[in-house]
Parts: sequence; structure tokens; C-alpha cells
Amino acid sequence: MRKLKNNNKLVIVGVGHVGSYVLADAMKLGLFSEISVIDINKEVAFGEALDQAHATALTYMTNTTVKAGDYSECADADVIICAAGPSVLKSSEDEMPDRALLAVKNAAVIREVMTGITAYTKEAIIIMITNPLDTMVYIAENEFNYPKGRVFGTGTMLDSARLRYVIANNYNIDPKSVTGYMMGEHGHTAFPVFSRLNIQGFGEKELDQVFKGKEPLHREEIGKQVVKSAFDVLNGKGWTNAGIAQAAVTLAKAIMLDEHSVYPISTTLRGQYGYDGDVAFSMPCIVGRNGVEKQLEISLDEQETEWLHKSAKYIQETMKVAQT
Ligand code: 2OP
Repeated sequence: MRKLKNNNKLVIVGVGHVGSYVLADAMKLGLFSEISVIDINKEVAFGEALDQAHATALTYMTNTTVKAGDYSECADADVIICAAGPSVLKSSEDEMPDRALLAVKNAAVIREVMTGITAYTKEAIIIMITNPLDTMVYIAENEFNYPKGRVFGTGTMLDSARLRYVIANNYNIDPKSVTGYMMGEHGHTAFPVFSRLNIQGFGEKELDQVFKGKEPLHREEIGKQVVKSAFDVLNGKGWTNAGIAQAAVTLAKAIMLDEHSVYPISTTLRGQYGYDGDVAFSMPCIVGRNGVEKQLEISLDEQETEWLHKSAKYIQETMKVAQT
């Protein structure tokens, strides 16, 4: 049964490299009076919570109560961020491993996590991080009868930040001044929506002329560079966590403050682009106190439409693997 609430509460499931970074960012956000962490390894959860609790005595930290617990913590949660399971695979020199390779292992993880969560709540907004993200979102949303819009994935929000960084770097512009996003799979088949990309209104065809980039804007090259950049991080430090944690916490903020911000995030499609309940992938969505308030079916050009269907097909193949 749902407890009476007088707090703003976040629960983080899985406090490995990603979940612990989410915790650190959320502790500084100042929007949660209480954060609980759950991990399959109870000692790790206890240690992470205690470490953060010690930090509350120092600069920049809010007086958030932080503790380790079990799934009963979800009963009065406002937001749950799920970072359970391994997030990426080791990469060799010239090969980018596919997040889809984690499908079987992490599908089992997510089914276990969702069983734990839904024993206590179907009201909390769940933000999924676990890879392969779109398949995990699909399972969480559709196998547990979770209310529509209340579970979604960070999706291409991170890929979009990488796109904006790559574009900004090319033109020596603040990435926050770049408007643009990736759609489709959070993975190899994610694609940039070039027809909508702009810097303060200067669109794809004007960028090279106006901002004099280091390299001319080339659709395929930029797309590849963005996808590869996850593996550049991975090959450097062994995992990625800062970008994805910031994406998840930004979404948590949009929920708590009912911001109605628009982000590219992953949910099951219900009629958009010809898909109806048979795939989840990222498209621009309005995010507020109810989670996904609205999916926005933006029109795409011919090449982008082709990329979208290729990406959807690829996710559907991964979904089949996760069923077995
Ligand atoms: C990322 O792209 C690993 O999916 C995670 O950083």
C-alpha cells in the first residue's frame, strides 16, 4: 500500500559506475529530500549511501537524507532511476561492441527489477538507463502493465548531447547554443535529425558558410562520429557515466518541477511513424510530472525516414533476442 508522503523521493536501482554517478549528481540537485539506493550487492549500496551521507556536511551538498534499502523503498518514491546491469561491453581497437549484446543478460535483470518495483508502486516515474536501452524500456513498459508514460528511457538524450558537442566543437560554439538531436536506437543505429539541426536558427545548409567549421558538415560522418564517441570514452576510462548520469538527473528535474521540457527519450510508439506497440525508440517527447506527457511525431526528410525504419528494425531484432 502507498504510504502517505511529505517528501520528494528518488530511488536509484543499481549503484555501479553509472548509478553511483547518478546518486552524486542527484545529491547536488537539491530537489530530493530523500534518496534510497538499492543494489544486488547490499554492501555496495550501504557504502555508496554512507559515503554520500558523509559528504552532506560539506560545500555544495544539500541536506538530502540518503540510505540503502530494498524494493519497499519504491512505495513512496516520486522518481526511480534504473541503472541495474552492465552498461557497455569492452571495445577492441577497431570494433565497437554492440549494446544489443547485453540483451539476454539485462532482460533478466530488468524483469527482476520491475517485479521488485511493481510489488510496491505503479505510480513512481521510472527512468530507465540499462542497455540495450530501447529493448529494456519495451520490456518494462509492456510486460508489467506499467501506466503509459510513467516509464521511459534516457534514450538518445545522451547521443543528442554528444551530437551537440560534436557540432559545437566543429564551429567553436557553445554546445548549449546548438539545437539538435538524435533519434532512433540508443546505439549503433541512432541517427541525427539534420533537417532540424540549427544554431540559433541557422540550419544545416547555412552552418558551414556562417560559422566556418573545421570540417564541412557531412551527414554520415557526423552520425558515425557521434555513435563512436561513446566508445572513445569507454576505451579511455573503461566505462561511461558522467554524460548518462546528467541526462537521467536532468529528466528527474523535468519531472519534479513539471517543466514540460522537450527531450529525445525512448518510449513505446503508439501509432507514430507507422509503429503501434511493437517497438520503443527515441523521439522528441514532452516531460513533466506525469512522465512522458506527449510524444511528438516530427516530420523527417527521406533519408532520415529511411534511417528511422532501419533503426526500428534493428531494435525489433534485439527485442526478439531478449524474449528467448
Ligand atoms: C553510453 O552511451 C554506455 O550507453 C551508454 O554512454
